[in-house]
Amino acid sequence: MIFARRTTPSPARAARLLGLGAYLPPRTVSNAELSSRLDTTDEWIRTRIGIAERHIADPVTATSDLAAEAGLRAMKSARVEHVDAVVLATATPDHHVPGTAPLVAHRLGLRQIPAFDLGAGCSGFVYATTVAAGLIHAGTAGSVLVIGAEKMSAVIDPADRQTAPIFGDGAGAVVLTAGRADEPGVLGPAAWGSDGEHADAIHIPAGGSRCPSRTVDDAKNQYVHMKGNEVFRHAVRHITRVTQEAAAAAGWRLQDVDRVIVHQANARISAAVAHTLGIPPECLPSNIAHVGNTSAASIPLLLSHSAIDGQLKAGQRVVVTSFGAGFTWAATTLLWPTGLQALV
Ligand code: COA
Repeated sequence: MIFARRTTPSPARAARLLGLGAYLPPRTVSNAELSSRLDTTDEWIRTRIGIAERHIADPVTATSDLAAEAGLRAMKSARVEHVDAVVLATATPDHHVPGTAPLVAHRLGLRQIPAFDLGAGCSGFVYATTVAAGLIHAGTAGSVLVIGAEKMSAVIDPADRQTAPIFGDGAGAVVLTAGRADEPGVLGPAAWGSDGEHADAIHIPAGGSRCPSRTVDDAKNQYVHMKGNEVFRHAVRHITRVTQEAAAAAGWRLQDVDRVIVHQANARISAAVAHTLGIPPECLPSNIAHVGNTSAASIPLLLSHSAIDGQLKAGQRVVVTSFGAGFTWAATTLLWPTGLQALV
């Protein structure tokens, strides 16, 4: 039996959502373009995954470039020019060394502040907001820029028809600031956990200390390998459970939840989660058709797009929930605040 651990911010000082932004690289790759070089079809990708196109960064763009754009937009949305720390969730850092967050902080003119990367696969952004909320709760930081950014195209085998249709590039970010627990926009208790027994379900075999790049014969071992069916089953189970736990920790009944912002992995995963939770599918906004699975960028991209298209409105009860490589999972809650303007 696996139990999720919870963190409960003190009522006195909690993390409040102040700014929200996102960035997608301009080039889109349609299913038709993919099908011209892969043994797949537009119809298969749409019906099995729910994706029509994904954004792919050009070869000279790195994750830090996407992250800096999204971070800038979140800070403009928050109307702040300074934050006390930067946490960057990514599985595709610019380099193994150094971390990408200090570079992003530098690009944003945020000199000398603590900045670090956090790796938790597609759950990375909700993990990062949980860590940032802890920093704010403890008084270590008054405000934190939390970014989820990925250049998944750098680690996806273009010849693998199982992963190439799924993943896309992009970035999203929030500014969190100190608030009172009873204010709209304040993050509720997080439910989160991991299970390393399934570490090889989504992994890049080579390029780390287990199998350094210089020892690799087969270049394919430097790409993402995925056991699609296994991931699918666990994703539905864990997203469902961690969503229930986060809602319960906030003192909400599921029928009172207005929106579930679920990691955009596969439209069928989201549909299965909605069905199992007994939540109408229209309460789960989606942008997967146009962005694909952007891993740690998925949640802040969906928050931004949902805020802009009116799916998220002031006063709504929102659960944010994710699952990814590790396995990892994480969820939290918030009452959507008044006057938040996402920038994309
Ligand atoms: N185009 C056409 N056919 C494809 C295909 C593609 N892109 N990918 C796989 N197939 C084929 C398989 O070869 C198989 O053929 P067969 O029956 O002749 O052997 C058939 O489709 C079914 O394969 P299967 O792997 O069972 O498909 P699926 O319905 O499980 O869908 C995934 C595959 C990858 C889309 C699905 O498992 C999935 O989305 N998993 C979760 C992935 C995910 O979310 N990852 C990130 C988590 S954060």
